[in-house]
Amino acid sequence: MDDTETTTEPTIGATIGATIDLDGQVAIVTGASSGLGRRFAQVLAANGARVVATARRLDRLEDLAADIGSAGGTCVPLQLDVTDAARIADTVAAAERLLGPVQILVNNAGIPDAQYATKMPVDLVDRVLDTNLRAPFLLSCEVARRLIEQQLPGRIVNISSVGGFHYAGGGAALYSISKAGVNRLTEALAVEWAKFGINVNAIAPGLFASEMSDGMIERMGDLTRAFPRRRIGQPEHLDSTLLYLVSPESEMVTGTVVKVDDGQGPR
Ligand SMILES: NC(=O)c1ccc[n+]([C@@H]2O[C@H](COP(=O)([O-])OP(=O)(O)OC[C@H]3O[C@@H](n4cnc5c(N)ncnc54)[C@H](OP(=O)(O)O)[C@@H]3O)[C@@H](O)[C@H]2O)c1
Repeated sequence: MDDTETTTEPTIGATIGATIDLDGQVAIVTGASSGLGRRFAQVLAANGARVVATARRLDRLEDLAADIGSAGGTCVPLQLDVTDAARIADTVAAAERLLGPVQILVNNAGIPDAQYATKMPVDLVDRVLDTNLRAPFLLSCEVARRLIEQQLPGRIVNISSVGGFHYAGGGAALYSISKAGVNRLTEALAVEWAKFGINVNAIAPGLFASEMSDGMIERMGDLTRAFPRRRIGQPEHLDSTLLYLVSPESEMVTGTVVKVDDGQGPR
């Protein structure tokens, strides 16, 4: 195929089939009100987990919970601004009270910076770091502390980005720094908690369809021209990686960051 040919659109459909057994496990997904997080919540629920869906937009979470409920799953919506440290502990406690000990945590909530480093006001710097890095750290610690006390194993999946490995200078320096931090958080907590049976891994997506990437495409135009397969990912393309990382079959895998980017970017 030469460079001018286009590829077909993704073939994965919106329906979700169960492929692993997460029956009886409780999962928290942050940033479940849109994009990748919404899909992560649906996939975990379709595979038997009872899901606590969190974000700031409660109406979106209620809508998601209704969708999951009508598909036969369990989803409890809980409003959480992940930059509010005090509410993090309360939310994990509420999840445990409502559904049982949280054994799966997907740290998905994240925001872009969409700005050159020298142009960022301090409050935006704080918001990016608090959302993308401090929150996954605090949430992971809150969940792990409870699992360690109850001698239960767990799976933490952090949503990083290929931006944590590579940055071409287009105005997302702090985002890149925050996601590199997420990668290191993944590695460091994995070794600290290996002895407790808590696995910590990350997924580093390339460009995927979501509200965040809509904003990026609006600012920068069609980015697929530079991609070998001329397409962006759809949230369902991450299903198998998420399920792999929470599956009993991947018990030995911890401290790993899996890039899922369709070969869009450099290595
Ligand atoms: N899409 C991509 O191309 C791409 C590529 C690489 C990595 N990622 C990562 O994937 C994750 C999901 O992003 P997305 O692409 O799905 O974007 P999205 O559609 O904009 O979703 C972001 C989610 O994060 C939540 N969120 C943001 N700030 C929050 C806060 N302070 N407290 C709680 N929730 C908050 C939002 O919910 P509320 O506004 O309702 O709070 C929303 O549900 C992010 O970590 C992002 O960095 C995305």
